[in-house]
Amino acid sequence: MPRIAIVDLIHKDGLNLLKKNRKYKYELVKDLSKKNLISKLPKFDGITLRRGKIDSEILEKCKKLKVISRHGVGYDNVDIKFLKKNKIKLLVTGSTTSTSPAEHIMFMILNISKGMSFFDKSVRNGNFKSIMQMKHENFELSGKKILIVGFGRIGRKLIKRCLGFEMQVYVYDPFVSEKIIRSYGGTKIKSLTSGLKFADVLSLSVPLTKKTHNMINMKNMNIMKKTSVIINVSRGGVVNERDLNKALNKKKIFGAGLDVFEKEPPEKNNPLLKNKRVLLSPHAATFTRECLSNMSIETVKNIINFFDKKVRKKNIVKI
Ligand SMILES: NC(=O)c1ccc[n+]([C@@H]2O[C@H](COP(=O)([O-])OP(=O)(O)OC[C@H]3O[C@@H](n4cnc5c(N)ncnc54)[C@H](O)[C@@H]3O)[C@@H](O)[C@H]2O)c1
Repeated sequence: MPRIAIVDLIHKDGLNLLKKNRKYKYELVKDLSKKNLISKLPKFDGITLRRGKIDSEILEKCKKLKVISRHGVGYDNVDIKFLKKNKIKLLVTGSTTSTSPAEHIMFMILNISKGMSFFDKSVRNGNFKSIMQMKHENFELSGKKILIVGFGRIGRKLIKRCLGFEMQVYVYDPFVSEKIIRSYGGTKIKSLTSGLKFADVLSLSVPLTKKTHNMINMKNMNIMKKTSVIINVSRGGVVNERDLNKALNKKKIFGAGLDVFEKEPPEKNNPLLKNKRVLLSPHAATFTRECLSNMSIETVKNIINFFDKKVRKKNIVKI
């Protein structure tokens, strides 16, 4: 009987699938410290992984391990080189993790373009006439140009929402053809720099890799419009935080929305926490009733399907 470790809590709807299934034994692993993972994980055939880092030192001890099912689509918290070498499969929740993040991006764009945080605070503080003090920096989305960097699951959901707001959509993703991008109503951009020059809004939906690390830095923020807004809901590290803070303070760009950070939670002295030009959320783009329930179900279904030899190909990560 395969033994499955549920590393980090997941929504009850996924756990219920395992409770009902007598073919598997499962155990919850809530303590995500390396010490605990090294001692607990070696007896399992499969692991579901939400937060927590599984490095090669832990994996070396897991001689029975055949599969890791990620609760999410990013997998920068697993040593994929080790998985590849040892033929351990990696599965992700491909079909359930894009609607909420795309809505979160749209929400951040709307929030910043309408100065919503400022308005909310002003009304609560009895400063109803704050509007008169504004420098009229709020703007309409209609007719504005958005550059979507990374045109996978999230990018393709986002474009529909942007077109609904009558934005002009440009896409930078060297791995997706012009034909596909056009079929969604977007225009392909061949170089990131050319798109950054005219983008009113830049939204990042790429994985964190060596190539995307610090992809947005001072050098390219310098060429962006002073009225532009950067939204990063992908991974911390794709936008260089120190440079972003500088660019905001020097008014090189207008604003930013961040759901993800280089270090999570961010250090208390991270200057972005005090910067009024940035809107922040705590890696919460998937925190909706629907997304959390669907992700937990897909995470568990992936692992059950794997042992039943019925796993959906699109959920297997090619490593
Ligand atoms: N904040 C959150 O809660 C949250 C939720 C879901 C996903 N994410 C992150 O968002 C990322 C994207 O998610 P997705 O489901 O759309 O992934 P995806 O794999 O479906 O799409 C990623 C796209 O990025 C493109 N890409 C890769 N390298 C690139 C590069 N150097 N330049 C431009 N494009 C590049 C790929 O071709 C692909 O089309 C994930 O890797 C994950 O880290 C964050």
